[in-house]
Amino acid sequence: MNDATRATAAASPRISPDRLHAYVRAIWEHAGSAAQEARLVADHLVAANLAGHDSHGVGMIPRYVASLREGELKLNLHAQVVRDVGAVLTIDGGRGFGQVVAAEAMERGIERAAKLGVCAVGLRNAHHIGRIGHWAEQCAQAGLVSFHFANVAGDPLVAPFGGIDRRIGTNPFCAAFPRTGKPPLVLDFATSAIAYGKTRVAYNQGKRVPGGALIDHAGQPTVEPKVMHEAPFGALMPTGGEASGHKGYGLAAMCEIFGGALSGGYTTHADTLEKTSAIVNCMLSVIVDPNAFDAGNAEAEADAFIEWVKASPRAAGVERIYAPGEPEREMRAQREAHGVPVDPATWQQIHDAAVSAGMPADEARRWAAGVD
Ligand SMILES: NC(=O)c1ccc[n+]([C@@H]2O[C@H](COP(=O)([O-])OP(=O)(O)OC[C@H]3O[C@@H](n4cnc5c(N)ncnc54)[C@H](O)[C@@H]3O)[C@@H](O)[C@H]2O)c1
Repeated sequence: MNDATRATAAASPRISPDRLHAYVRAIWEHAGSAAQEARLVADHLVAANLAGHDSHGVGMIPRYVASLREGELKLNLHAQVVRDVGAVLTIDGGRGFGQVVAAEAMERGIERAAKLGVCAVGLRNAHHIGRIGHWAEQCAQAGLVSFHFANVAGDPLVAPFGGIDRRIGTNPFCAAFPRTGKPPLVLDFATSAIAYGKTRVAYNQGKRVPGGALIDHAGQPTVEPKVMHEAPFGALMPTGGEASGHKGYGLAAMCEIFGGALSGGYTTHADTLEKTSAIVNCMLSVIVDPNAFDAGNAEAEADAFIEWVKASPRAAGVERIYAPGEPEREMRAQREAHGVPVDPATWQQIHDAAVSAGMPADEARRWAAGVD
């Protein structure tokens, strides 16, 4: 559990995942989404909260509604294959809901990788595709390995290594390895020291963020999340901080180029800066059938490695050593049993967004009052 998640959990009422899912579905149906779209959006956002990534859960709804009202987020659009050369697919999301077009892009890539052994999918111009682990899990459920490089096109929030202003998106990288009869290993993170949404969660709660994650407008280190939400604006630092920020920065650069350029989408530069509430993602996903290799022992080798690293003597204060994806699984089990904490400021913002999206005020009040 990271600091922002721990703070949310301590201070907030809990809502059952089923109720939260039904509320999110109702918001998007009122906004004009078809039932299937509203369900996919609710599946994704609630799953992100269940995984402990409140930065990418239901708290995104106000931003999505703002984007819809500005005409940027398009409802009821589907992924369009614009080029098909067998093992490489280029797919345009048309600024449709990322939760729909990324699911459809993965479906196409999975089908092709199962047939050919590998498929590279370039998805461009999708509205926010949320928690990238969700897409890797979709591939893993089909028994496939995957790597994903995404950019947040035209939305710079992160300083390059050695720089002091916003030049790069929080560009996430994700990789997953499926295991028979066991949960997949899923590595999934923003290439910024912390995800931008985690500064929103801390800002809404009046909390500070961990040191080494932010600089202010003058390039000075700070722990105040307001530098990301109030002028004069500061920037996020790349993953790795002072000691090895060149690695986070380098990975972010490759996410930008693989995700934004190779997909036929766009990268972040002076001509592409986003001036609206839209979050536009482009993503390169490489999906691979592990059975296509001559590696009948791959799973056993992966398991042996994980067992080996977990047997390391633990540092003081550390309860356990986790495999990639394990913290999310642990949090999912907890929150499925005890509900999802949503802090009061975020809950109010969702209620206001629901009304702004077209939900009658009475109905929104009923949902908002229904905290378990
Ligand atoms: N769509 C977008 O534009 C966008 C942009 C940025 C981030 N994101 C998403 O934001 C989410 C949050 O990113 P983040 O950078 O805050 O994630 P994070 O810093 O919480 O890191 C998560 C990753 O680290 C692993 N992990 C966490 N604690 C661990 C531990 N103690 N030991 C071993 N492994 C551990 C997790 O299993 C997971 O793979 C991700 O799902 C990412 O895809 C999306």
